[in-house]
Amino acid sequence: MSLHPPFPSMPFMEAFTPLLRLFKGMTRKGPGSEASTLRALSLCPLPVRPAIADLGCGSGASTLVLARALQPLRAPILALDADGTALDDLWEAAQAQGLLPLVRPRTGDMANPGIPAGSLDLLWSEGAIAHIGWAEGLRVWRELLRPGGVMAFTDATWFEDSPPPAARQAWGDWYPTMGTEEANLRTARGLGLEVLGHFRLPSQDWWDYFDQVEARCRLCEEQEGLAETIASMRAEMDLYRRAGHAYGYVFYILQKA
Ligand SMILES: C[S@@+](CC[C@H](N)C(=O)[O-])C[C@H]1O[C@@H](n2cnc3c(N)ncnc32)[C@H](O)[C@@H]1O
Repeated sequence: MSLHPPFPSMPFMEAFTPLLRLFKGMTRKGPGSEASTLRALSLCPLPVRPAIADLGCGSGASTLVLARALQPLRAPILALDADGTALDDLWEAAQAQGLLPLVRPRTGDMANPGIPAGSLDLLWSEGAIAHIGWAEGLRVWRELLRPGGVMAFTDATWFEDSPPPAARQAWGDWYPTMGTEEANLRTARGLGLEVLGHFRLPSQDWWDYFDQVEARCRLCEEQEGLAETIASMRAEMDLYRRAGHAYGYVFYILQKA
């Protein structure tokens, strides 16, 4: 039984059920790494006792890195995701690593997380903003920050104005509003966010994630109802092999004025 049952008010998660089954137990559910998380964190100015949330944290790969790195500040991290089973995994990992007092898993909707406006010093999110969209995500998340507060998050981004047709078609289905770095930063500045930094995740962050995906695909091949999801994940990996130069994840570090 899940310690963190999903809210019945989040029916949108039903569409993800096969993907959640396939990704069960994966420590990262998207491209990323400890090194990238720490690089982004080094660009974030923080007060002595910051209020922190990791939205769309999944099983908390980034939450655990933040909790370890910020341990001396003794600031708890609200770790929010719609997937209660991923939060169970985070809870167990945090307990095993002695970080449980600093990690507070909670099921919720990151588009409406129930966090008081103007209360956060640091809003973290890796690979999740696409679920609510860049502009809407920035608008909602900016409201949660105190003046001077920072949001640091990754998002899939075009690196080329004219990507290969196969990439354009696939990402057009997965993330139709995906922007270039330039367009994304323009939108952020237009919403009153100062750009403290941004950098592209190394392709190794993708390959490490894909290694986990492929291992799960092999393990789940015989499971009923997963064939389509496995095929689409393999198509995604193949696309990255062929056209990964045209897109990738970018870490954006933005400060509320
Ligand atoms: C690509 S995964 C990234 C997870 C994690 N940050 C990582 O890097 O491993 C996206 C996560 O967003 C969560 N998610 C999607 N829509 C959500 C929503 N509206 N509210 C909360 N979580 C959501 C999914 O359950 C999933 O865990």
